[in-house]
Amino acid sequence: MNTREYKSYFRADIDAIAGYTPGEQPKVNKLIKLNTNENPYPPSPRISDMLKNFDASLLRLYPQPMCDSLRDVIAGLHGVERNNIIVGNGSDDILTIAVRCFSDAGKKTACVDPTYSLYEVLTGIQGGQCVKIPLNEDFSLPENLLELLDGVNLLLLPRPNAPTGNSFDKSRIDDLCANFDGIVLIDGAYADFAKDSCMELAMKYPNVIVSRTLSKSYSLAGVRLGYAVAHRNIIEGMMKVKDSYNVNMLTQKIAIEALLDRDYLEKTVAKIKLTRARLSRELAATGFKVMPSEANFVLASPPDGNAGLYFEALRKHNIIVRYFPGDRTGAFVRITVGTDDEIDQLLEVTRGLYAR
Ligand SMILES: Cc1ncc(COP(=O)(O)O)c(C=O)c1O
Repeated sequence: MNTREYKSYFRADIDAIAGYTPGEQPKVNKLIKLNTNENPYPPSPRISDMLKNFDASLLRLYPQPMCDSLRDVIAGLHGVERNNIIVGNGSDDILTIAVRCFSDAGKKTACVDPTYSLYEVLTGIQGGQCVKIPLNEDFSLPENLLELLDGVNLLLLPRPNAPTGNSFDKSRIDDLCANFDGIVLIDGAYADFAKDSCMELAMKYPNVIVSRTLSKSYSLAGVRLGYAVAHRNIIEGMMKVKDSYNVNMLTQKIAIEALLDRDYLEKTVAKIKLTRARLSRELAATGFKVMPSEANFVLASPPDGNAGLYFEALRKHNIIVRYFPGDRTGAFVRITVGTDDEIDQLLEVTRGLYAR
């Protein structure tokens, strides 16, 4: 599978609904789209103000190739230097760059199972082998993780994990970074929704990369901006692999506005966390098994364990969630935390299906 096939597979659920074009408002009446962990709220109002005053004639010029202004803002936020930062066309681009840097036909990557399936796809494209490490029953890290990483060059580990939503024990990850002799990429796509983050490990250890995205907490999935923080040697290597202009001018400017609006980020994240707690509580009260979530989605299994049926039933009501058939995830659906109104509608349909 290549990355284009991967993304079309990813979108199959929504494409099946006539009239939906990615990037446009759904034409289907009242489509409730809770399948790709987008943020239900608009991005910072500072962005529309900036765009209103943007001089379109600037677009004839190439953007900053190294994104220095944006990297300075990111460095300031994390208390590091510009040369500790690389930015990419979404964090998928950061993952691609890392896998191209640290994997090839003779090297192994590793990821946990279940996790974000792109890691394995990217490793395959490089001709590398991806070692899949099964998580415990409760989706926590196995005790003998370090042993299982023998001979592995790059570990791709999201915290919080997707699609499970739980966050791995931080002291275990710290220990792992200290003792593993390969590279650890901690994918913090959902870190803003979690209790804590592993950002400081990027400066504590020379073999650690921490990535972030503006797609989720900053409501900017359409703009494509991700970044990574790591020691300068790692960043220098990754810079050699990236496309010359991998982040366009508008994205750079929009990202700066979003990153500087800390109040807006905090308010939006706080709203999503409240809705997440209510969604989890109400699903549990309806008899669902609900995994604890530190992300902007909830993994939940209906009372009869038939997640495929629940997925189809929601779909008939124009509510789209994500279903991952398979051993570890087949009994669950993943529900993105939408607005309160969207979640109310999902809960109403759900109660109708599983009334006790
Ligand atoms: C764990 C994880 N990492 C990275 C990404 C990619 O995000 P983006 O490329 O939009 O920054 C996603 C997207 O859903 C994700 O779930």
